[in-house]
Amino acid sequence: MALSRGFFALVLVACCSLMLAVSASASGGGVADDGVVGGDKLMMDRFLRWQATYNRSYPTPEERQRRFQVYRRNMEHIEATNQAGNLTYTLGENQFADLTEEEFLDLYTMKGMPPVRRDAGKKQANFSSPAAAVDAPTSVDWRSKGAVTPIKNQGPSCSSCWAFVTAATIEGITQIKTGKLLSLSEQELIDCDPYDGGCNLGYFVNGYKWVIQNGGLTSEANYPYQARRYQCNRSKAANHAARISNYVQVPQGESQLQQAVAQQPVAAAIEMGGSLQFYSGGVWSGQCGTRMNHAITVVGYGADSSSGLKYWLVKNSWGQSWGERGYLRMRRDVTRGGLCGIALDLAYPVV
Ligand SMILES: *[C@@H]1O[C@H](CO)[C@@H](O)[C@H](O)[C@H]1NC(C)=O
Ligand SMILES: *[C@@H]1O[C@H](CO)[C@@H](O)[C@H](O)[C@H]1NC(C)=O
Ligand SMILES: *[C@@H]1O[C@H](CO)[C@@H](O)[C@H](O)[C@H]1NC(C)=O
Ligand SMILES: *[C@@H]1O[C@H](CO)[C@@H](O)[C@H](O)[C@H]1NC(C)=O
Repeated sequence: MALSRGFFALVLVACCSLMLAVSASASGGGVADDGVVGGDKLMMDRFLRWQATYNRSYPTPEERQRRFQVYRRNMEHIEATNQAGNLTYTLGENQFADLTEEEFLDLYTMKGMPPVRRDAGKKQANFSSPAAAVDAPTSVDWRSKGAVTPIKNQGPSCSSCWAFVTAATIEGITQIKTGKLLSLSEQELIDCDPYDGGCNLGYFVNGYKWVIQNGGLTSEANYPYQARRYQCNRSKAANHAARISNYVQVPQGESQLQQAVAQQPVAAAIEMGGSLQFYSGGVWSGQCGTRMNHAITVVGYGADSSSGLKYWLVKNSWGQSWGERGYLRMRRDVTRGGLCGIALDLAYPVV
């Protein structure tokens, strides 16, 4: 497709991951705390439990020792942050506990992305216009309406968050229109969408363009996730479980995002990084900027029942061991563009 390079230049959201420095086949034996000095014993015990929980092993004793040091620093950071008190969120041990912040950013995000750019001439939603205004309720949770599939996991070898967001938002509007919730195929987008880079780089808006052009998107069951790019299977891609007719880019701003989410789950870009690596619950209100490097699906909003803090309900694609069983609550109504830029690059599909 001749347009492919042009569209690719618009790609904003790269995500997410590379192979961890892990040898899956290395021996998990030899767990004696060789090379570990006495005071580290408790921490080493935690590290061993963590390795068992996440089935993590290392190719050499040196690498294991290095990872242990990273793990220890991360645990110290998590504990110091949680104990500093008065935070609206907590940090905790998760699958990223043996990665430095720099490694996490390198592996799970894409630095130096171009600023948000819009499709010239594309009609945008305008929820400020009286005709389009939706009477947005004070809280929305599309999970309770049955419009959100279970948390998925892109895995450590494929930067495909964009495909998970394309699929999740189509799953949402399809359920809202038909009453049927069906998990859709990220793999079809990864293999077949020529406007995106499969496991390297992608943008949900390009994903919508491709689904429209293809005539639909097939089911997860028909074209299951492989966490790497293969040749497009045309016969699978010709089987359509859901169709969209168009997509809309939402103007920037938290009030626009609220109006859009009141309608359906919405695709968004954010800056992912820093302590979010270890976010384990509560309303995230920590440091972050607007250098977009990750795509997520906003599936609701509300206010925390105990603190009253307003939040966006975010569906991520890192499995259930990150955040609140795979979800993030991001503080809402802080800045016009939203915390971590959550209200700056928004779109949703139209059936
Ligand atoms: C743990 O890793 C081993 C070696 O890679 C693999 O064979 C096994 O299936 C994994 N187990 C789980 C529960 O993931
Ligand atoms: C910590 O939280 C309490 C209760 O919300 C508040 O009264 C206090 O001022 C806070 N302290 C700081 C240092 O923010
Ligand atoms: C949206 O509608 C409002 C009110 O009609 C208008 O003032 C504003 O310029 C419009 N914004 C866009 C981006 O079209
Ligand atoms: C493509 O999908 C069809 C239908 O599921 C299957 O029979 C075929 O083996 C697949 N082709 C390849 C190359 O995997």
